[in-house]
Amino acid sequence: MRKAMIAGNWKMNTTVAEGSDLAINLSGFVSSSGKFTKTLVVICPPFTHLSEVVKSVVGSDIAVGAQNVWSEEKGAYTGEISAKMLAGLVKYVIIGHSERRQYFGETNELVNKKTTIAMANGLLPIVCVGELLDVRQGGDYLNFILNQARVALTGQAINGENLVIAYEPVWAIGTGLAASKEQAEEVIGALRNLVNAMFGAEIADKTLILYGGSTTEENIAEYMAMPDIDGALVGGASLKTEKFTKMIAEAEKSRAR
Ligand code: 13P
Repeated sequence: MRKAMIAGNWKMNTTVAEGSDLAINLSGFVSSSGKFTKTLVVICPPFTHLSEVVKSVVGSDIAVGAQNVWSEEKGAYTGEISAKMLAGLVKYVIIGHSERRQYFGETNELVNKKTTIAMANGLLPIVCVGELLDVRQGGDYLNFILNQARVALTGQAINGENLVIAYEPVWAIGTGLAASKEQAEEVIGALRNLVNAMFGAEIADKTLILYGGSTTEENIAEYMAMPDIDGALVGGASLKTEKFTKMIAEAEKSRAR
């Protein structure tokens, strides 16, 4: 059975000191005592926090990720961060989050390039896909989402363990209007079929696919009970130790059954 994953996307929140405190509290909970053997825990703080947070989680089983990466190897890209800079510091990187697509004009092609360079540098991308409300209401959302994923994954040497997909419907992010477990399962099942068609059944069976959008300690168990949903990419609730740790415990419980 695939492991579960609970990944926190802190977005543009917390100071370095606050982030470090949050990481220390979380790592106290997720100590390397073998408590969470079936759940991978990831936190993705802002770039400025990464060195501190990496130190704060030493000795725990928490992995750290970045929230973005630039698509080029190096050079005159003022303000950007390369995959090589992140490699060795963090394990994961979120790519193509809807906020980056929406506010920073990221296209499917850019998401593909970022995924390629991240993987070439040994980072594990968490590739995000998801539709706006008008696409959902228009009815053709599956094709829209599958196209986002198809372009992102084209040409990538995925093996089932070196890339994670997150389905985050834009209308569910930060709104409290979480997708139902059936809505999330429909899309995530279709994404798994796409991975199957592109890379084969064995890789599709191993690939972690998460749901994200208003997940909390109260609704996480519902998603975890669905066959294709492997966990959550958590925004708001990942900033609260109590909520996030409850979500980790629920994920672990779902895999222990
Ligand atoms: P919320 O959990 O705050 O809805 O955010 C989801 C998200 O965008 C995670 O990347």
